[in-house]
Amino acid sequence: MSENLDFYKWFETIAQKLGDREISFRKIFKYLDSLPAPIIIVETGCLRAKDNFLDGQSTLLFDKYTLSRGEKSKVYTVDIDPKSTKVCKEVTSSNVEITTEDSVRYLNNLSNIFLKNKTKVSMFYLDSFDIDWRYPYPSAAHHLKELTSVTRLLHTDTLVVVDDSPATGNLAQTENETNSTWKVLALPSPPPTIGGKGFLVHEYASHVKAKLIFSHYQSAWKDFNKV
Ligand SMILES: C[S@@+](CC[C@H](N)C(=O)[O-])C[C@H]1O[C@@H](n2cnc3c(N)ncnc32)[C@H](O)[C@@H]1O
Repeated sequence: MSENLDFYKWFETIAQKLGDREISFRKIFKYLDSLPAPIIIVETGCLRAKDNFLDGQSTLLFDKYTLSRGEKSKVYTVDIDPKSTKVCKEVTSSNVEITTEDSVRYLNNLSNIFLKNKTKVSMFYLDSFDIDWRYPYPSAAHHLKELTSVTRLLHTDTLVVVDDSPATGNLAQTENETNSTWKVLALPSPPPTIGGKGFLVHEYASHVKAKLIFSHYQSAWKDFNKV
């Protein structure tokens, strides 16, 4: 418990640097606090530049958090670029297992191992394959493939978070153009939905009636499987 308080003390020193991700990282850690130890986090796309909080520094945050949740809590991360995994190794503790490989292949193998040794994953954090905001399909498809490769590991309380997934919708400028505000268009224009890296994960989530837990710059779901 006191180590958990130490984590939050440290978190407050960097929280503002997280910008638009601050609110959702707070929600992620609050959610993980509600789960029993060991906390197992599996991440795709690792920290690739020291102190670059514009990317999120997710692996560092998860490293510090799992260290605060006891011995058996651990982070697994994968990145296809050896330059990224080299930097990540320099910045994180030995509590983070870092692999250089394509994430979909890695997750498929990891699923087999975790099923065999009954490792329960608390959270998947999907943040590989950089997004082209004008053409998000390749990135969104890659993240859907990642979800597909871990579907056997998803329990009702497993949190799935996709970075770079803000809501997207059809907007129109309001009458008062001096303060350039925008309004979300009403029907028959479709309502806002999740965009970016997570837009196909969200479509799948809607089909299987998974629950959207939050939608900020990052989006999160649970209940993909009902057991
Ligand atoms: C946005 S960065 C990750 C940032 C990190 N999560 C953070 O918060 O600092 C995306 C990373 O995904 C990696 N990547 C791209 N395609 C990949 C793939 N097919 N498999 C695994 N990693 C991939 C890139 O090499 C890059 O390091």
